[in-house]
Amino acid sequence: MNNNKSYQVKVNRGLFVTFEGGEGSGKSTQIDFLKKYLLNNNCNVICTREPGGTPEGEVIRKTLVSGDSGSWDPLSEALIFNGLRRQHINKIISPSLIDGNIVLCDRFIDSTIVYQGFAGSVNQSLLIELHKKFCYNLYPDLTFFFDLDPKLGLQRTKKRSINIKEDRFEKFGIDYHHKILKGYHQLTHNYKDRFVKIDGSQSIEKISKDIIFYLNIKLNQNA
Ligand code: ADP
Ligand code: TYD
Repeated sequence: MNNNKSYQVKVNRGLFVTFEGGEGSGKSTQIDFLKKYLLNNNCNVICTREPGGTPEGEVIRKTLVSGDSGSWDPLSEALIFNGLRRQHINKIISPSLIDGNIVLCDRFIDSTIVYQGFAGSVNQSLLIELHKKFCYNLYPDLTFFFDLDPKLGLQRTKKRSINIKEDRFEKFGIDYHHKILKGYHQLTHNYKDRFVKIDGSQSIEKISKDIIFYLNIKLNQNA
């Protein structure tokens, strides 16, 4: 793949769907539901996540999501996320799309814009430029944003964190998590064409019905 060339997202490919939102907002739960639904409907589906997604990226993920909140500065983080994302696109996302799969990805570029940009004060134009230069300017076809009061989301992750020590970002204070939510609201406003806001406080069943509804609209548009 040539990094000077914008990736041709609409040509001969599957569908790229991302899931965004604060900690504990329900992204992974819905990816699991949707994967089962799509497989039952004979669709080819690939589930992946960031940070990570590739075997190499998963190793680096550990240092980013565990340990002290202050162990990385936001610009260093942004550069690492950019490198990991390039590898993820090269090895997983792009080949899967070219093979016609529906790719369900837990977090992508919007997480960098919100966490490192809005909350971490890294210049957002620089983040967009890095994405353009090194990540083929690849954007999702559809992004589900899980809108949930951070207090509720963090409460949900407390139960989960007993076993999983991936809580570095969760340990930032509540004001930080409110900034994250505000950042996602801004992106929802800026990218109306691909963002779908989901009320994350609804039941798991209602949310999965909403997601299937919006996904079907997108699939019909692309047919
Ligand atoms: P995320 O991937 O966004 O961090 P998860 O899907 O891991 O969130 O959900 C965090 C926790 O909240 C899990 O224990 C999950 O079972 C629970 N959960 C997910 N969605 C809902 C929901 N709509 N209502 C109540 N609990 C939920
Ligand atoms: P994840 O474990 O998916 O979070 P969640 O608790 O919502 O399941 O993601 C790990 C953390 O990485 C998450 O707190 C957000 C952060 N992150 C960034 O700060 N920037 C990025 O570009 C990405 C992809 C993730």
